[in-house]
Parts: sequence; structure tokens; C-alpha cells
Amino acid sequence: LARGILPPDLGGLHVVVSAGGTREPLDPVRFLGNRSSGKQGYALARTAAARGARVTLVAANTGLPDPAGVDVVPVGTAAQLREAVLKAAAQADAVVMAAAVADFRPAAYATGKIKKEDGREPEAVALVRNPDILAELSADRPRPGQIVVGFAAETDHVLENGRAKLRRKGCDLLVVNEVGERKTFGAEENEAVVLGADGSETLVPHGPKEALADVVWDLVAGRLS
Ligand code: CTP
Ligand code: CA
Repeated sequence: LARGILPPDLGGLHVVVSAGGTREPLDPVRFLGNRSSGKQGYALARTAAARGARVTLVAANTGLPDPAGVDVVPVGTAAQLREAVLKAAAQADAVVMAAAVADFRPAAYATGKIKKEDGREPEAVALVRNPDILAELSADRPRPGQIVVGFAAETDHVLENGRAKLRRKGCDLLVVNEVGERKTFGAEENEAVVLGADGSETLVPHGPKEALADVVWDLVAGRLS
């Protein structure tokens, strides 16, 4: 939109963005996944690059074309996403975790395809917790002064849950989206509140995902200077 006339105010900064949704394999042909399209993360990567930043985009199963001028690292699972984000974060001024990271993964991986058997009910799938990458990054900043941003999708008590999540994660900013059957997932537009650890609340009205991305970078830049 008006971005073309903005100065490259993120010049000299390196930012890391995670996008998409992780897939946790059950066997060679099946996985547990989620409905994240990756569009918000890609909008963050594009806008940061347009504003002059060096951008590393850790992309989980998005199927989206690589944005121009962005360093894309494709990943599949939460464990792979964690490794890629922590590696890139070591050199970064800011990390934005827009990816939907699976909270759980199957406890076991079957190296051969799981088959059904006549007359037998399937076994329950045992799950184990995945590490919380955002909490880990927030607690252990690889660079002093690094800004860490999380995203939260909530269906109920959106602000209350968002505040509690911000405190629990220890990040600087949390972008809270309200999700429902027809909201956010896969949509071109988004509406959110950005909560700051300093108590700030920035309402971003319904609009393109680029507009929300620009607000996030404004808030990040303000905290870096
Ligand atoms: N996140 C992460 N690692 C995980 C799970 C989530 O880094 N294992 C990050 C997401 O990328 C997002 C933020 O944490 O930026 C919030 O994700 P969300 O699923 O809303 O939070 P959870 O703590 O998993 O809470 P919930 O039980 O509501 O899913
Ligand atoms: Ca979660």
C-alpha cells in the first residue's frame, strides 16, 4: 500500500520469521498437522524485506512461492523448525514466531505404513509434548536486546488468554488473533491486538495481512531503537 514510499527503516537489521504449520509424522504417509496457511508469516517476511531488513524465513509446509530477497529455510516438523529458528536467531535482532507449532507429536513413528486389520478397532495414538520454541527463545535470548514476538490464536476470552500467554511465554510482543470457523485461517485479511510486555495494547483493524505485518515491524523497530 503506502509501503513504497516508506524509508527502508529496517536497514541493517536481521530478522527471523517462522511461518506455516508443522507436521508430525505417524508413518511414512500420514501426519498430524494444522490449518495454518503461512500467509501471515510470508507477509511479515515480505514487508520486512521491503523495509530493508535481511530476512530469514523458516517455512513449515506452506507450499507458497519464496518471497523475493528473502532467505527461505524449509522445514517439516516442530523439531526441525526449532533447530532452524535457533540457528538463525543466534545472529538476529528480532524473531517473530508466526508458525503454528504442533504442541504434541506421536510418541512413536512407524517406519512402515500402519495397516488396518479386519474385525479390529484401531489403537489409540499416544502423543508426547513438543518443546516450546517461543518460551525457550524468550528465556534464553541468544543476543542481548533481541526482540521476540509470538502469535496466539484464541477462540474464547481472547484478551484475557492473550495476556496470560504473553506472561507465560516471556516474549516482548504477542499478536493475538481471534479464530473461528471462518476467521483467519487461509484468509487474505486479518484483525488482531498486539499486546506488549510493557502493558501496551495496539489494535489492528480488519485489513490485509501486510498491514498487520507493518504494525508488528513498527513495534519491533520502536523497541530496538
Ligand atoms: N509456539 C512455539 N512452540 C510450541 C508451541 C507454540 O514456539 N511448541 C509458539 C507459536 O509459534 C506462537 C506462540 O507460541 O508464536 C503461541 O502459540 P499457541 O499455540 O497460541 O500457544 P500455546 O502455548 O501452545 O497454547 P495453547 O495451549 O493455547 O495452544
Ligand atoms: Ca499451541
